Amino acid sequence: MKSMKLPAPPCAEGNAQNTLEAPGRRKFLYRLGWGALVAGIAGQVFAAVRALIPNVLYEPPRTFKIGLPESFADGVTYLEDHRLFIGRDRLGLYAISAVCTHLGCTVKMMNLNQPELVKIGGKPTEILQEFHCPCHGSKYYGDGTNYAGPAPRPLDWFRLEVSPDDGQIIVDSSDTVHHDFRLKA
Ligand code: FES
Repeated sequence: MKSMKLPAPPCAEGNAQNTLEAPGRRKFLYRLGWGALVAGIAGQVFAAVRALIPNVLYEPPRTFKIGLPESFADGVTYLEDHRLFIGRDRLGLYAISAVCTHLGCTVKMMNLNQPELVKIGGKPTEILQEFHCPCHGSKYYGDGTNYAGPAPRPLDWFRLEVSPDDGQIIVDSSDTVHHDFRLKA
């Protein structure tokens, strides 16, 4: 009997090809799935670690130098960059913040035409200038004591010292001092 080889049906051919391609496709999808999973986990870990690192704050330094003592004459000098008044009287040097204690506007110094005698803390005190806030009208005597407007407290006074390195005055705005403070320099 004569045997006859029949050609494979078209669908059978396709199935054979599918069977050959399936392992490659499966491997590809498997890798794709793992890749997505690893990328997802890495993203979550990065976000968690990033949340622990604070954003950089560009705040001005709290301690800074302002120059040699002899560069400050008698009276009050305004340092705009630092929002600070440096005063010199017969007792020495002092620093008063120009930041209004109400909402932080910069106060302006007003030189009085003639010295005024006012009571500060129950003590008669002669003042030569006042500080006025342009924002909501707070007023301070020359020593920073508030006497009008919404300011809840006096202007801050900061500690001064002389740098042992170069003799310049160092202002420490993180250290507030009493109004009696003077740097003898
Ligand atoms: S900020 Fe100075 S009075 Fe309000």
